[in-house]
Amino acid sequence: MIEDLFRNEVGDRKIFRDKSILSAHYVPHELPHRDGEIKGVTQVIGPALRNEKPSNLFIYGGPGTGKTCVVRYVVRKMQEFLDKPEMVGKDIIVKVAYMNCKIRNSKYQVLLKTLEDNTLNDGKLKYAPLEGRSEPSLKGMDPANLYDRLFKVVENNGINLILILDEIDMVKKGLNDLTYILTRINDELSSGSVSIIGISNDRRVKSRLDPRSKSTLCEEEMIFSHYNAVQLETILRQRVDKGFQPASIDDSIIRMIAAFAAQDGDARYALKLLKKAGEMSQNDDKTVVEMSDVERARDLVEKDIMAESIGLLPEHQQITIYSIACLASDGGIYRRLPGKGNGDLLTGEVYEIYETNCKALNRNPRTMRQFSAYLNELEMLGLIAMRLSGKGVRGTTRLIRLGYPPDEIKKIVMKSLGLTST
Ligand SMILES: Nc1ncnc2c1ncn2[C@@H]1O[C@H](COP(=O)(O)OP(=O)(O)O)[C@@H](O)[C@H]1O
Ligand SMILES: [Mg+2]
Repeated sequence: MIEDLFRNEVGDRKIFRDKSILSAHYVPHELPHRDGEIKGVTQVIGPALRNEKPSNLFIYGGPGTGKTCVVRYVVRKMQEFLDKPEMVGKDIIVKVAYMNCKIRNSKYQVLLKTLEDNTLNDGKLKYAPLEGRSEPSLKGMDPANLYDRLFKVVENNGINLILILDEIDMVKKGLNDLTYILTRINDELSSGSVSIIGISNDRRVKSRLDPRSKSTLCEEEMIFSHYNAVQLETILRQRVDKGFQPASIDDSIIRMIAAFAAQDGDARYALKLLKKAGEMSQNDDKTVVEMSDVERARDLVEKDIMAESIGLLPEHQQITIYSIACLASDGGIYRRLPGKGNGDLLTGEVYEIYETNCKALNRNPRTMRQFSAYLNELEMLGLIAMRLSGKGVRGTTRLIRLGYPPDEIKKIVMKSLGLTST
């Protein structure tokens, strides 16, 4: 049994040639359809190589539009360039620290990660942030102290430091403060500089910034547009050529995957679908990927994505979607507006269940106003759809419809909130 599983991994590679090419971490050597964006990022950070402070840059665009891979690609190219001292002056030091704000989600965490990052602790610097520490951590140090250390490292070494804050919209606390600090440091430095590249899926993050921080962060701005089906096809083909066995996947299949993913213009989704479809046919011991494999893969990938987006929601939004799912799967008990058909739920009745669930979980229910905001968020994520009812006995209200099977959603939330099924 387990031998079969292992054989599947190494044995007859009928479908895949090199599966690592399809992993989420793989950065291809070329990024088709992103020449302009690559050039744009290069021009923004390029001045660092002349010892000038690069402008700050704010990049936004939908998920899977290549923001992260373009920035990482340019950084990698710059690193290669810096490794050839004959090209760049010897005394020019450029350092790049990358972090994802899903994990580093506060001003403090960002500063800490910047200082603890390998890039500033490479042993060649005159003064490194971890100097004098018995262990490689600055945890527990107060923010003013962290600031001082950052200042000293940059100043004493004359570093042009580029901070890449990916998914910057995930910074919960102190986003304005953070931007402010980084402006201030440049005013105080007599040598070296600190610049930020902020990346976000969500352009609304700008509305959370005060005017001063906004003009700082958005000194330069780039928008990544969605990929169309033809572009996704090129991106998929590049991976197929390297990662799949020749002739194991037909053009028509690639086109079909590209067409599915083109609905959101999302390359990540396209690649997940490609990989999963390959796995489906591999599991069935086939030599070619078929349409039915893509169909099955699509269901699974959708489910994964839904689970991931629910898992990331704040607790009260999870309780909200859970309540919607309870009501949706328990259709008979609650009143429906006449003629609205099954599946449409009234905001009021969902709120009642939400209150009950909060109490059962020992949480304080939020107000109706906050609850409405949760519904908007859930709709934005595509987990529910809402529309206004016509004028009925209760006046106009919003009708809610769940975007996924209720039982799946209930399972995911229960797992995520650590509840056992009853
Ligand atoms: N132009 C491209 N060429 C090749 N692969 C790409 C391209 N754009 C995106 N990808 C791939 O698609 C996936 C998602 O891209 P990513 O940069 O993470 O998107 P974003 O950060 O905008 O959400 C990654 O696996 C990436 O390698
Ligand atoms: Mg990204």
